Amino acid sequence: MPVSAVLSSPDARDVHSFAQPLSARVTHVDLDLVADFESRTLAGTAALDVDAAAGNALTLDTRDLDIESVHNAAGEALSWQLGEVDPVLGTALRVELGAARRVVVRYRTRPGAAALQWLLPAQTAGGKEPFLYSQGQAILNRTWIPTQDSPGIRQTWSARITAPAALTVVMSAQMLGAEAGPTPQQRTWKFRMDEPVAPYLIALAAGDLGFRELGPRTGVYAEPSVLEAAATEFVDVEKMVTATEELYGPYRWGRYDLLVLPPAFPFGGMENPRLTFLTPTVLAGDRSLVTLLAHELAHSWSGNLVTNATWSDFWLNEGFTVYIEGRIMERVFGVETATMQAALGWDSLQEEIKAMGGASAPDTRLHIDLGGRDPDEGLTDIPYEKGAAFLRSIEAAVGRERFDAWLRGYFDRHAFQPQTTSGFLADLRANLVQGDASLGQRLELQRWVNEPGLPEATAAPHSQAFVRIDAAADAFAAGRPLDADPATWSSAERVRFLNRLPRKLSSARLAELSTRMSLDTQHNSEVRFAWLRLAIANRYQPAMPQLDEFLSSMGRRKFVLPLFQDLMEQGAWGRQMARSIYAKTRPTYHAVTVGSVDKVMSPP
Ligand code: BES
Ligand code: ZN
Repeated sequence: MPVSAVLSSPDARDVHSFAQPLSARVTHVDLDLVADFESRTLAGTAALDVDAAAGNALTLDTRDLDIESVHNAAGEALSWQLGEVDPVLGTALRVELGAARRVVVRYRTRPGAAALQWLLPAQTAGGKEPFLYSQGQAILNRTWIPTQDSPGIRQTWSARITAPAALTVVMSAQMLGAEAGPTPQQRTWKFRMDEPVAPYLIALAAGDLGFRELGPRTGVYAEPSVLEAAATEFVDVEKMVTATEELYGPYRWGRYDLLVLPPAFPFGGMENPRLTFLTPTVLAGDRSLVTLLAHELAHSWSGNLVTNATWSDFWLNEGFTVYIEGRIMERVFGVETATMQAALGWDSLQEEIKAMGGASAPDTRLHIDLGGRDPDEGLTDIPYEKGAAFLRSIEAAVGRERFDAWLRGYFDRHAFQPQTTSGFLADLRANLVQGDASLGQRLELQRWVNEPGLPEATAAPHSQAFVRIDAAADAFAAGRPLDADPATWSSAERVRFLNRLPRKLSSARLAELSTRMSLDTQHNSEVRFAWLRLAIANRYQPAMPQLDEFLSSMGRRKFVLPLFQDLMEQGAWGRQMARSIYAKTRPTYHAVTVGSVDKVMSPP
């Protein structure tokens, strides 16, 4: 396999990996691991195929791994050495290759491995079996797989996972089936991924899982008690895959299945190839949050097929994905639904830019400098919403037909390759601008990519449906009673309404809202979140049991972190509340959520 041309370009250098892919590069990973729930460890081997010139050393990423031995395909020991420990990046593992082209690392993970969460039966829906899942993005997979953990270094992979016999094991790969394990209490599951993927996309889950087919190539895994609700919520998934293919070309991963995780899952969704991981908070009961599904599906093109070469190029994954998510929503559910979503995204972008210190803050650039920082720090609305706004502005400038043709071609030209921001610009110039100087100027490409804030002329998405919602919010804010009937509002409309209200309201007015909008029995997690933020801002005591319940019921960072942040800004009242809730909920959250909330609870 030739070393990807992208990897040798200077701006593809990944500051978050120790790998030296131009000296020696991992091309395939073969895992053979036993999951032990008692000790909370995965133990076994990772056999790596390596592309290298004679005499080179292989450098791998590891973090919190206990390495037992390293040998070649014939079982002969290879000499190896661990470097210094960096708290974010982990530790380089350097292996002297000699003539070896297959390196077998025998190792075990630590119970606190940041990518993994080992759940007790009580933390699952069924309550009977334990659960294990992994979350690799951005640089966490090195806590359970010793490989080159850099998004530009694509690897095919295969795995044998041995787990307690009562559990079903799933991975982001083709499942080859299960066989008897080494003891009668265990079973061994086999997987294989023949397309080269970025290593953050290798994912694992094991639990009491059932499966329901949704379409010819789509289905959903979930705990048995959740399966029915999941199948109802996601009925449209096959239609959505087909719609995306019509826009951007074939779905290239075979099956598209979904996995509903226990509530501790720290993200809304994670686009693991062939098997999107989803929070159960997406199960609103009325399909009102399927936009999240559209988002993760879109990553099958933007992210998994064409992948950010480094975490500074993260907007290439998320900005494209938010744009495509909108196009899928429009095609399957209509333009109004899609526009409301875009308008909510725009609102949250404006809030985020303010919170980041305004339109001149350096991290409001699309391509950001992450040197010496955790890539997590780039996880703001900028790559998502500014990225999408950028693509919408190009679409508006050249017309939808031309833009669609370019984007579809872009996926073909760069399929299964990493992409840098400058590679994207070069492609756009070569295949869309095509020397049209006046168009080149109008697109303001440098302005969008390398400067903070938004270009002056950026058009905000306009939702006609929100006009009456905004009028209702403004009237309520002016002290008039709510004369609309919020029972007829969609959840997007409720969110817009709540977010548009002034942050200071009297208890009487909050009580009126709560009754009229049935806010204490809201199922939709986005609406609950918007309501609880407003309630905290007013120290509105009657909503605090709901807040406690919400924070105890799930660990999705997007909800958990701002709510604790909001509490901490409310003086002694809020801090006391935050501490007492967090003392109880912290042990139930994934390391990703704990890491962020810890910073808020005890600032350095
Ligand atoms: N790939 C991301 C999640 C992610 C990003 C995890 C960076 C770790 C590091 C996923 O596709 C995503 O964006 N999820 C969003 C959903 C969404 C609809 C914007 C989330 O989890 O909220
Ligand atoms: Zn995403």
